[in-house]
Amino acid sequence: MAVKEITLENFNVTEFIEEKAKEIASLVGSGVAINALSGGVDSCAVTMLGHKALGDRLKTYFIDNGIMREGEPGKIKALFNSLGVHIEIIDAQDDFFNALKGLTDPEEKREAITQAFYKDVFGKLVRKSGAKHLLQGTILTDVDETVAGIKRQHNVFEQLGIDPQKAFGYKIVEPLIQLRKDGVRKLAAGLGLPESAYNRIPFPGPALATRVIGEVTKEKVSVVRKATVIVEEELSSTGAFQYMAVLHQDRVTGMRDGKRDFGLQIEVRCWDSIDARKATPTKLSYDVLCKLADRIVAEVPGVVSVTYNITKKPPSTIEVI
Ligand code: XMP
Repeated sequence: MAVKEITLENFNVTEFIEEKAKEIASLVGSGVAINALSGGVDSCAVTMLGHKALGDRLKTYFIDNGIMREGEPGKIKALFNSLGVHIEIIDAQDDFFNALKGLTDPEEKREAITQAFYKDVFGKLVRKSGAKHLLQGTILTDVDETVAGIKRQHNVFEQLGIDPQKAFGYKIVEPLIQLRKDGVRKLAAGLGLPESAYNRIPFPGPALATRVIGEVTKEKVSVVRKATVIVEEELSSTGAFQYMAVLHQDRVTGMRDGKRDFGLQIEVRCWDSIDARKATPTKLSYDVLCKLADRIVAEVPGVVSVTYNITKKPPSTIEVI
C-alpha cells in the first residue's frame, strides 16, 4: 500500500501527536512495546511519542553497537533522563562486528546490520520483555530509496514484501512513515525535545559503518570516529543539513617526519538539503577546508590525505555506502 505523504505545509503537529498516540495505544493494547533509541531525530521523536502513548509500558533501549559516534550512549541517556524517560544501554558490539566481518559489498554490509539489529538484538529484547511490538522511526525518504533499489535502508521491510512478524517474531509500528526530515524536526520540537535534539544533523541507523568503505573493523571505525569529532566540531556553525567524515579503502603515499608513510585517506562531505532527497555540497570557505585538513592529519593517526566532496545528490548520495 502506497504511503500518503504529509508535507510540511499540511502538517498539524498537535493533531498528529494526539492521533498517533491513540493509534499506538490501541495497537499495543495492554501489552508492552520496545523501541531502540539511536539519538537521531527520528528515533528521539518516536521515543517521546511512544512514551506519551504508553508511559512505562514502552521499554526504550540504546543499542551500543560499537559503530556510534564518540560518547553517544552516555550523552543520549543523560538527555532522556533529563526528560524523565528511562533508557537501558545494551552492549551489542560483538553482534555487530561479528556480523560485519569479511564483508565489503555495501548492500551486504547494510543487510548484515539489519539482521544484527532485528533478528539478534531486538529478537532477544522482545523475548526478554514479552513485547509484541517494536516502535521505530522509519520516514518516507527511507522507504523511497529502498523501494527504488538505491540503498537498502536498515529499517524498511513491509515495502519489500518482508513480514516482520514472520521474519523476526514481532510487529513493527512506524508512526512517522508519512513524514520527511523537515516534518520530523517540527514534530520533535512539538514533543518537547530540546533544540540540541531536534536540530541535530541526521545520522543513519547503520551509523559509522556507512562511512567506512570496504570491510568494517573496530580499528577503522575508531579512525572514522576520531575524524567525525573534528568534522562535527568544525562544521556545526555552518548550519548545513549534514556533514561527515568517510574513511576510504585505498591508501596513498604520504610522508611524515621525513619518512614514507603509505597512509589513510579521509573524505569530508558537507551537504545543503531540505529533506535529503536532493543535496548540494556546501560552499565551505577555503580556510575552513584547510583547518579541517590540518586538524585531521594532526589528530587522527595514520591519515595522510583529506579530500572534500563537490558532487551533488544525484548522482551522488549523502552517505558513501
Ligand atoms: P543517502 O545516503 O541515501 O541518505 O543519500 C539519505 C538520508 O538518509 C540517511 N540514511 C539512513 N538513515 N537508515 C537510516 O535511518 C539507513 O540505512 C540510512 N542510510 C542513509 C542519510 O544519513 C541521509 O540523511
